[in-house]
Amino acid sequence: MSFSNYVKSSDGEGKEKHLPVIEVKGDTVVVTVGKEVAHPNTVEHHIKWIRLYGIKKENNMPVDIAYLDLGPTLASPKLTVELLVKEYKEIYAVSYCNVHGVWESALQC
Ligand SMILES: [Fe+2]
Repeated sequence: MSFSNYVKSSDGEGKEKHLPVIEVKGDTVVVTVGKEVAHPNTVEHHIKWIRLYGIKKENNMPVDIAYLDLGPTLASPKLTVELLVKEYKEIYAVSYCNVHGVWESALQC
């Protein structure tokens, strides 16, 4: 068994609230969890973190771009970073809900 078997994606139940949505405008990358339907933000049920990875064009190497650790009820699950998007062939966003687990989405650059 691999951990990836537990990672949910676009076919997961509850995707409207959990799937990280990646948007790119120029060199600004915004990842939002709960863009379609707001995710609960309580101590009992919240998005704890969002992580952003990229696959570089030059060497096909995954790199760890950014990590946002959220305090429940204190901040919305939205991560914004500036990066040279043209250097990447793919971007992956991974998020964690303390009730519904790990979710992943990808964007071809
Ligand atoms: Fe959840």
